[in-house]
Amino acid sequence: MHLMDIVNRNEKAIPWTEGEKIPWDEPGFSRRMLREHLSQEHNAASRRFEIVDQHVAWIHHELLNEKPSHVLDLGCGPGFYVSRLARLGHTCTGVDFSPASIEYAQKHDLENHTEATYIHHDLRTFDYGNGFDLVMLIYGEFNTFRKPDARAILKKAHQALKNDGRLLIELNSYSCLHGFGLTAPAWHSSQGGLFSEEPYLFLEESFWNEAMQAATRRMYVINPANGEVQQMADNHQAYTEGDLRIMAEECGFSKVAFHPNWPGNIDESGDYLLMVCEK
Ligand SMILES: C[S@@+](CC[C@H](N)C(=O)[O-])C[C@H]1O[C@@H](n2cnc3c(N)ncnc32)[C@H](O)[C@@H]1O
Repeated sequence: MHLMDIVNRNEKAIPWTEGEKIPWDEPGFSRRMLREHLSQEHNAASRRFEIVDQHVAWIHHELLNEKPSHVLDLGCGPGFYVSRLARLGHTCTGVDFSPASIEYAQKHDLENHTEATYIHHDLRTFDYGNGFDLVMLIYGEFNTFRKPDARAILKKAHQALKNDGRLLIELNSYSCLHGFGLTAPAWHSSQGGLFSEEPYLFLEESFWNEAMQAATRRMYVINPANGEVQQMADNHQAYTEGDLRIMAEECGFSKVAFHPNWPGNIDESGDYLLMVCEK
């Protein structure tokens, strides 16, 4: 793509027509993203370890009743939750399609003898197996799937759980995504970072699609040395609690409960929503 393609772009982006999500699964991008996961300067990609520790303590006490359990973490990233839960005595499996994250998690596991299992796979095509006490998918990634894929994930999670097992999904709240879709266009420059090791200009504009109740972010990464442009987009389906309850019940879950945030977490108040479903 070239600069003129930006000038000639469609005025509005229709959700999921200009790209699926940022390229977590692309090897170079995943290596650069791993740096963001590991950084303790911010909460992008993964939260800082002191927050992860609090979440893991809540999962261990409240969802697993401190009993040794089988846990499946969907979109586990570099395994920060999996490794901590494994250290607490749970039998854990993490799945992610980022090659660098899974490689890091496996190396960390070998070095620390946590005996967790990490699988490099796409959640949309992976067979989740069965016998789990807890299946989790956190940090808003559920919203990034198209509705049919999200529904298929819920169904597979239901099949993977034991009879009294639970599903924990952390979503971006409806209001957060609505606001995200209405954000003004922005740009920044970088000497090298997440989107390229070389200097780049980054342009982004967001859209809210009322009919689809979804937000789309269109992004351009411009190489100032030659004017080449890479376009990407990510999409976020917004759900109300009512939508989620119906969807979870249609996928077989009997009880559905919501928490407005992780207990004790005040920083991101209103941005996230925890859904706990019982089989
Ligand atoms: C926001 S990060 C959260 C990582 C981790 N759960 C945490 O909180 O530290 C989202 C993760 O979902 C993974 N992911 C996104 N789409 C996926 C897919 N279709 N299949 C497997 N993993 C996926 C990404 O690679 C990334 O590691």
